[in-house]
Amino acid sequence: MTKPTIVPAGGLIHSKDAGELAIREDLKGKISRVLISPTILQEKIHDLAEGIIRDAKKNGAMEIQVVVVLKGAAPFANMLGQEIFRCGGPPVRFNYIKASSYSAGLVSSGEVKIEGHLPFVRHKDILIVEDIVDTGLTLSRLKKYLIEERRASSVKICALLDKSARRLPALRKGLRIDYVGFKIPDMFVAGCGIDCAENFREIPYVVAVNEDYFRKGRKEK
Ligand code: IMP
Repeated sequence: MTKPTIVPAGGLIHSKDAGELAIREDLKGKISRVLISPTILQEKIHDLAEGIIRDAKKNGAMEIQVVVVLKGAAPFANMLGQEIFRCGGPPVRFNYIKASSYSAGLVSSGEVKIEGHLPFVRHKDILIVEDIVDTGLTLSRLKKYLIEERRASSVKICALLDKSARRLPALRKGLRIDYVGFKIPDMFVAGCGIDCAENFREIPYVVAVNEDYFRKGRKEK
């Protein structure tokens, strides 16, 4: 099993990336710092790909059926799929679904909406690819949906980031995340597909968002 890397609040920056990661002038005040630099991200995606391939081979899987949780996990899923290819893994089949417990902004609505068609899931072993696990509500509902309503044979989960301190007590033991990239502190993050009110998805690494800035901005609108 790929061991998650614990990210300290100050962030993890590879010496290769140092110097290139100064926060751009236009983002100052919105982003407080880089949390995970591109090289560290890429190395982790390599480790995750190797772990997924190892398990797929052990189970005799001819292909890897992925369900990508839109929108945030799409860039991570693409990177992961490409790395599985580079490492000589079986073909990856991508399916997309929209499932979210967040409305626009910073606060969870507590409800999980699932939208999208998944015609290829029935009787298949599924790997959900998610950007970030917070309370765990989205993934526990999605897993249940895939097994009970879409009749998947099995469901595993791969998440790039895990804010495990925020997990709902009922899901601490009940929701298994099979592959975790990084355990991060309880802070609002963005980048690598993850947004803050639709901002910052295009940043090619993970950043800590300045929450005060966004709270203030939303009140002033
Ligand atoms: P959960 O259902 O509480 O686990 O929430 C998971 C979803 O919340 C993720 O798919 C993200 O869309 C969103 N989310 C949680 N934490 C963050 C964050 O720090 N930044 C951006 N989105 C987040």
